[in-house]
Amino acid sequence: MLASKRIPVAVPSLTGNEKKYVEQCLDSTWISSAGEFIGKFEQSFADFCGVRHAVAINNGTTAIHLALVALGIGEGDEVLIPTLTYIATANAVAYCNAKPVLVDSEPGTMNMDPAKLEARITPRTKAIIVVHLYGHPTDMGPVMELARKHNLKVIEDAAEAHGAEYNGKRVGGIGDCATFSFFGNKIVTTGEGGMVTTDDDELAARLRLYRGQGMDPKRRYWFPVVGFNYRMTNIAAAIGLAQMERIDDALAARQKVAGWYEQALAAHADIIERPVVADYAHHVYWMYTVLLTGLTDAQRDEVMRLMDADGIETRPVFYPMHVLPPYLEDGSSYAVANDQAARGINLPTHAQLEAEDIERVVASLVSALRRVGS
Ligand SMILES: Cc1ncc(COP(=O)(O)O)c(C=O)c1O
Repeated sequence: MLASKRIPVAVPSLTGNEKKYVEQCLDSTWISSAGEFIGKFEQSFADFCGVRHAVAINNGTTAIHLALVALGIGEGDEVLIPTLTYIATANAVAYCNAKPVLVDSEPGTMNMDPAKLEARITPRTKAIIVVHLYGHPTDMGPVMELARKHNLKVIEDAAEAHGAEYNGKRVGGIGDCATFSFFGNKIVTTGEGGMVTTDDDELAARLRLYRGQGMDPKRRYWFPVVGFNYRMTNIAAAIGLAQMERIDDALAARQKVAGWYEQALAAHADIIERPVVADYAHHVYWMYTVLLTGLTDAQRDEVMRLMDADGIETRPVFYPMHVLPPYLEDGSSYAVANDQAARGINLPTHAQLEAEDIERVVASLVSALRRVGS
């Protein structure tokens, strides 16, 4: 049999103006965090999200930290987050000396369950961070209603959801602000990078102040607050602008890949649960995520090992925060997230996949499931 090429779980697509714009940075010597591409990238991202402001940041973790600081979250405050997320969401809260308070997932979408939110609110609760996990938007209606009722700020962690929509509205403009990641495996990449979006003029000004060491915009080298150096470089923004020029194609490619998975997996619904798309959602499939019916986490890991031997890279669904040493808690309140984390895998999802790659992934997955006895 011919050796088949390896199928990675994620690959960036850099086939537009990325190289040309980076060369322009080098030729012009504007390689640091000033230069024409920063403003252009921010404007194109703000337009894409349908918001007034986009503030470019050096990564998606510092974007959440900055958003929390700019919203006034500090020592002793509590911030509600889903337990099933990437650790950056929880860490950013910890950086503020605030406490991440965990909320279980809802079945289906794998996002924070709005029905379990109110029970976790205390007099110290100041904010909610929703995470649009793997590209599926959180059910924002009930979240925003609770936030209004209890006077809480809402941050959308949209690191994985560029272009996702809730009831026809793009994420990034639904909460008080939203944060994005442009890491190399994301839907839009700048290598490392992030963005905070908001419609609130005052919040945008605070985000810009704290991003740049806290320097007064009207008085050079005057620092009224303790800020951070969380600036994005002109080189990263140059890549980002080129990515935004082709964002429609990037999003369409992922819909195509998801469609191929849907078709190929339909015959295996008894052993592989496909991702749920809620009525209100436009899912952008940062990752096409499946749950393996009836498997333990050890069996799931064995399936991934067998697929790896077939040349197919996969990823396990994130460990929930309550099982990780920094945020360890009794897991009995998080039954849904525990189940999703144990049985979930992310299949290869990126713009360079062809229909025959998806057939190979699904054939390998089904054969691995048979071998582990599903
Ligand atoms: C949900 C979520 N939040 C935050 C981040 C952090 O982004 P970055 O890796 O750019 O710091 C990520 C990145 O993987 C993520 O998936």
